[in-house]
Amino acid sequence: MRSHLLNETTADLYRRSVTEGVERVAAKLATTERPHTGMSVDELAPVINGIDLDRPLEDPAAVLDELEEVYLRDAVYFHHPRYLGHLNCPVVIPAVLGEAVLSAVNSSLDTWDQSIGGTLIERRLIDWTAGRIGLGPDADGIFTSGGSQSNFHSLLLARDEACRTVMQNSHRPLAKSEVLPKLRIFTSEASHFSVKKSAAMLGLGYEAVIAVPVDRNRRMDTSVLALELESCVREGLFPMAVVATAGTTDFGSIDPLPEIARLAAEHSTWMHVDAAYGCGLLVSPTRRHLLDGIEHANSVTVDYHKSFFQPVSSSAMLVRDRDTLKHATYHADYLNPRRMAEERIPNQVDKSIQTTRRFDALKLWMTLRTMGADGLGSLFDEVIDLAAAGWDIIDADPRFEVVVRPQISTLVFRYVPRLDGVEVRNDLVDEANLHARKALFASGEAVVAGTKVDGDQYLKFTLLNPQTTTADIAAVLDLLAAHAEQFLGESLAVHH
Ligand SMILES: Cc1ncc(COP(=O)(O)O)c(C=O)c1O
Repeated sequence: MRSHLLNETTADLYRRSVTEGVERVAAKLATTERPHTGMSVDELAPVINGIDLDRPLEDPAAVLDELEEVYLRDAVYFHHPRYLGHLNCPVVIPAVLGEAVLSAVNSSLDTWDQSIGGTLIERRLIDWTAGRIGLGPDADGIFTSGGSQSNFHSLLLARDEACRTVMQNSHRPLAKSEVLPKLRIFTSEASHFSVKKSAAMLGLGYEAVIAVPVDRNRRMDTSVLALELESCVREGLFPMAVVATAGTTDFGSIDPLPEIARLAAEHSTWMHVDAAYGCGLLVSPTRRHLLDGIEHANSVTVDYHKSFFQPVSSSAMLVRDRDTLKHATYHADYLNPRRMAEERIPNQVDKSIQTTRRFDALKLWMTLRTMGADGLGSLFDEVIDLAAAGWDIIDADPRFEVVVRPQISTLVFRYVPRLDGVEVRNDLVDEANLHARKALFASGEAVVAGTKVDGDQYLKFTLLNPQTTTADIAAVLDLLAAHAEQFLGESLAVHH
């Protein structure tokens, strides 16, 4: 069994095994004709459940053969130009190379003595990102597992800063538990659900989150935010944070950051910007201005695995004031004793809510060192251009209604039947849209997402692949319309 350990005696087996795996994936990528095969849970679950995990195959090639059946054949391939589903990007090769290196060397970025250069590389990338945002000389941050964790971590710091302020300003000693029920978080109704979930996990409850309405472009209505902040204070409550979104999940809309920053400052409230999706604009050669105002944030979420073409996972949270990171610091004698901090040993665990932590930063490092920031940003620009062209196509198509002209790269639209003299009930239109998405997925021809807008069922393209063309968009629209029409045809026939 020792022959499976990666060490000085097995470098050759490592090389052969990984090369064989890379060959299989490369062959798969080169021959993928559809984003997936349409495989169903009912078909695949028995295959996977039927594998006896106590009887190993031993031969790596046999394991790869089996992997073909249980995973590779039916996986959803985000690199395919007709994958238009969720916020998953195709990945760049330098990052995939980084992934291979980081898992083999297997550094853990919690402490300096488990990573050395890894720690310094991560720190450089945090400084680089904070510099692009414009957070100032005291900025810092940490890589995380994803946008949800980055939002949670940021709100944890915001919560503890708010508690500190409220307790300091109180004329009588207050326990933290007395402060928590008074805290409120303001975010638009189009923000990511992880904001609400974080509030619950932080002991504030879902009800601590005030959903601010959005305007017709799905951006936070700051006149309502102003009123909500005022009424919060009037009621003796404390505005803990305003969470602005730079790239909402559904619409890619960017909240009015300068105005939100002004209101947050007026109320001495923490401003968090969830730029999980919009962070790609930080490197856009032409559209960085869309993020103007982000530099006022107290904390920012960026997901390199959404708009920097990085493999999952690769995300970070950044703060304006590195001192605030102390709310997640714990000194353990065996790992990061206080003495080490005094000796200025750079233990990243001091800033993280994780302990053992992947060297995800390496992927971004390899990417920037190979392609450069402008190279990455121009890829993101391409998908934004594509989304603008896609909007024109859908807007001109009588079969569909499209919601907002995209600021980034999503298109939310809905099939609307135009049947002469026949009034189709709204719930049937909803079902037709749901059916179209499901049927398309089952066919494997393309993958699109779905969402609800003002209670109605919509379809969504999330465009993150520069290889996708307007012809792909047109073809997928035809497929969706055909599925929806077939469904309606059958449903209306039954009703008559
Ligand atoms: C705006 C926004 N924030 C946060 C997240 C959560 O990111 P992750 O899935 O990496 O946890 C998403 C995911 O889609 C998002 O769109």
